Amino acid sequence: MTDKISVLIPEEAVTQRINELADQISKDYEGKQVHIICILKGSIVFSCDLAKRLTVPVTFDFMSVSSYGNETVSSGRVRILKDLDESIQGKDVLIIEDIIDSGRTLSYLKDLLSSRGPASLNICTLLDKPDRRETEVEVKYVGFEIPDKFVVGYGLDYNQLYRNLPYVGVVELN
Ligand code: IMP
Ligand code: MG
Repeated sequence: MTDKISVLIPEEAVTQRINELADQISKDYEGKQVHIICILKGSIVFSCDLAKRLTVPVTFDFMSVSSYGNETVSSGRVRILKDLDESIQGKDVLIIEDIIDSGRTLSYLKDLLSSRGPASLNICTLLDKPDRRETEVEVKYVGFEIPDKFVVGYGLDYNQLYRNLPYVGVVELN
């Protein structure tokens, strides 16, 4: 099955914005080491591209989470499918996400990771859909604010497909 996908953010624009974010983060973390937490699977592409352009020392860890179904939406809890391998105590942690939608996932993760004693904890997301926000969460670095559309590419999937697209696109559902 092939879906029609229209380009929302072209590859060149994504690349340019990631360069800008990397410059800003490198400046903000000067003299420190950034401990990147890549939220699987959606943020792998963005995390790698961003990390390659950082000029400060970087370490990586990975976490995989899944939102509970609608019946538990109000609890705002997410299920941890894979936790971090290493302690984040005393580290300057930067959570990298693909997209913030309702904000539930990141708000839960931020509370959870804060309780583990990092020296600092910030969030960087490639995309933000502010119109969809249900839970306020402070995000320090945002690549692009986008309208309330279902997007794919650059790590984001539709039924696990299209994560490898080098641009951000909108699936045209027939
Ligand atoms: P939140 O907890 O509602 O903010 O959920 C964010 C998660 O929902 C992201 O990490 C994505 O996995 C998924 N998601 C939200 N919007 C989209 C989209 O437009 N395309 C693909 N995945 C999305
Ligand atoms: Mg995700």
